[in-house]
Formats: sequence, C-alpha cells, structure tokens
Amino acid sequence: MAGLSEGSPMSRTWKIVLAVLAVAVLLAAAYAWSMSRRLQTTVVPNVSPSLSPQSSVSPAAGDVSSCGLTPTTTTGPYYISGTPQLTGGNLNYTSLPGTPMKISGYVYGSVDNTKPLNNAIIEIWQADNSGRYHPQAQGAANQFSSDQLALRGYVTTDAKGYYEFTSIFPAEYEGRVRHVHTRASATGYTPVVTQMITYLAGDKVTPQQDNIASELPACNMLKFTDTGGVRTSAFDFHLAGQ
Ligand SMILES: [Fe+2]
Repeated sequence: MAGLSEGSPMSRTWKIVLAVLAVAVLLAAAYAWSMSRRLQTTVVPNVSPSLSPQSSVSPAAGDVSSCGLTPTTTTGPYYISGTPQLTGGNLNYTSLPGTPMKISGYVYGSVDNTKPLNNAIIEIWQADNSGRYHPQAQGAANQFSSDQLALRGYVTTDAKGYYEFTSIFPAEYEGRVRHVHTRASATGYTPVVTQMITYLAGDKVTPQQDNIASELPACNMLKFTDTGGVRTSAFDFHLAGQ
C-alpha cells in the first residue's frame, strides 16, 4: 500500500485546502485592518466640532477691550442742551427721592485705554424714581426755569480722563429698562450719545426686552456693587478722533 507522498493526489488536496485557508486568513486580516481605519476616520471629525464652541465663546461681560468704540444710541425725546455743570458731580441736586447710586469711569480717545482725555464733557440726563424726566420735554436749558430742570447736567474729566457723578436710580418706563442717557464730547473727537443700562435684578423690564438696550454691548450693562451703602458702578467711554 502506497503511503502519502509529495505529488500524490491526497497531498495536492491538502495543499489546496491549506492555500484556501491561508487566503481566508489574509482576507480576514485585511478586512479587520480596513474596519479599524474606518472607525478612526469616523472618530476624528467628531472631536474637532466639540472643541470649536470653546474657541468661539464670547468675551466675558464687562471686558472693556472687547467693546470697541462706545456705541451711539438715539438721543431720545428728552434731551435738553446747555444744562449746568454739576457741583461735586451731584446730578440729584434737587434731592429727589430714590435709591442713591454713583457711577465713575474714564474717557479715552482711542478704542483701548491708552489715550485718556482731559477736560472731556459728559452730559447726563435721566428719569426720576417714577420714570419722569424734568422736564418731560426737549429743547435748551434757557427755555426752562431752574426749578423745572432736575437730574440733568454735566461733569468733566481730569488729566487721567476720570469722571464721576452721583444720582438716584432712574425708574423703568414705557417698556424701557432703567437707563441713564449720556453725551460725551471732547475737542478733536466725535461726540457720542449712549446709554448706561442700570438694570437691577428683579426689574420688570430686562435689557433683552428693550429695543435699545438689547442692541448694546455688554460694556453698556452696568454692574453695581455696594460701597459704603451706595451702589456704585463704572463705565468707560471710547471716542473716535475726528
Ligand atoms: Fe430715556
């Protein structure tokens, strides 16, 4: 009886079987490698989008460097020109009732804080504690008697560009969030009329519900802290050169 030997029909069958198995193993390995590559290319795109929101986060509220030049708002229907300089920065010189507040800051002739403006003028006008202006009108100061004028006037900056004034919180009115109107001007610079938003937590009207306040940057949203019983806040003006 002849044994199995190389070249015998049985030996060729085993060779074919082994070859088929080898090809199957190679195909399986190739398939596994292909699947691992597909999984990698699926994972990578999911990583980048999850990082992108972090890189596009808005600057923090109150970050002055992000606000640019002070934005202009409407002068509104209650601007009176030629109002008096405020003695000691006291806007509430007629002692109207209300919650005291103090606002201070700097006027710069640049988009950043590198060029403080000396002797800049900041005109201020605001509503009283019941939401009314004194007078509830526009025009020039010399058209009204002194007892008709209140919560109006101007302060100037010192050599460091610093200003401050004290007043009472204005009330909300007609869908408007609490706000203080200001007009900043300095020789050689474009005057800016803007609004300091003096919203307080719990107010009926929020900045988001106010057509004017909702268009203003975070820097116009004043944040108050309690300093010796008076609520204080800060606001800087950045004027453009003419
Ligand atoms: Fe107003």
